[in-house]
Amino acid sequence: MQANRRRAPLPPLLSFAAFAACTAMDQTNPSVLVADFGTAASGQPATLWTLRNAHLECDVTDHGATLVAVRTKDRAGILADVVLGFDDVTGYQSPANQYFGCTTGRVCNRIAKAQFTLDGYTYRLAANNGPNSLHGGAVRSLDKVHWQAERVGDASAPGVRFSYLSRDGEEGFPGNLRVEVTYRLEPDGLRIDYRATTDRRTPVNLTNHAYFNLAGAGAPTVLDHELWVDAERHTPTDDTLIPTGAIASVLGTPLDFSKPLPLGLRIGELDATPAQGYDHNYVLRAATGLRPVARLRHPTSGRRLEVLTDQPALQVYSGNFLHGQTGKGGRTYARRSGLCLETQHYPDSVNQPHFPDTVLAPGEEYRTTTIYRFTTE
Ligand code: GLA
Repeated sequence: MQANRRRAPLPPLLSFAAFAACTAMDQTNPSVLVADFGTAASGQPATLWTLRNAHLECDVTDHGATLVAVRTKDRAGILADVVLGFDDVTGYQSPANQYFGCTTGRVCNRIAKAQFTLDGYTYRLAANNGPNSLHGGAVRSLDKVHWQAERVGDASAPGVRFSYLSRDGEEGFPGNLRVEVTYRLEPDGLRIDYRATTDRRTPVNLTNHAYFNLAGAGAPTVLDHELWVDAERHTPTDDTLIPTGAIASVLGTPLDFSKPLPLGLRIGELDATPAQGYDHNYVLRAATGLRPVARLRHPTSGRRLEVLTDQPALQVYSGNFLHGQTGKGGRTYARRSGLCLETQHYPDSVNQPHFPDTVLAPGEEYRTTTIYRFTTE
């Protein structure tokens, strides 16, 4: 790993069964509600935690360490849920789920031809997106498994930490990978801290795949939102959305959000491309440090989302493959009615030696933070 490397040992995985009761409120912390979230196909019960403060409420579940909801106010003080998702774990396990709000990995985005060579050995992965591997695999990628949970933080900054041990060979990746994802409320935002350690060299690239619509999940489009991304370059891709290896300028093209512009302004120019809209990896301008990298504005409601991260890239995906599936509360998720702002390393980095390194080694700690900050104007 190039960035975010530390040599601190992780605490052991913690069990959290006692916390998973179907009661309404956590007795030790009124800022956390706990609810039953249904039963997964495996028979494993899922739990929903609601973290809340004066400004917002976030729901997270141990299925896929998933962000289920963010309820935040508009300029008139009216709450709306701005994240697409489902009412229970059954929805998340249905074909309608296109990585809604999940923790995505071990390696998010694409790995070319579903294989890579590391330390002289070629690892073969499931080809679940044409010839390529997408979002960590087909069966036991991080979005599809049950995570252990423990409550962290306090009444002013309530949080839940999810932990998972991805065994050596799971989804074809080497090494026992211990992963932790912590969701924690800040006064005006949601902070996500990712940690991982391994006992063999292995690629790691984690993100969250929340689809946002600041008009409220289920609103018909996200194209009326205005986007700014702190990037002047991107990684162009081939027909299967694998980077060609080039780094190209976005300036003056339909990809240019270096100044805030409505998402709908030039998306039509991308209709006939393989991405069918925005599905592009932006190379963020400042290479390191937790800093604002994107802003999304919904002028009608006055809601704003600011994304802060220490990652080198941002995948901007305008929900081109959403197809009108039914989500929370019976709402419909039309094509381009959600925007993903996925903080990460460049796609296919493990096969592209000149991209920033994503290989984690034993003794290192993968460590990265993303904050979604919600304000109004
Ligand atoms: C990502 C990809 C998209 C699509 C979605 C899931 O963000 O870049 O091409 O596969 O996930 O539907």
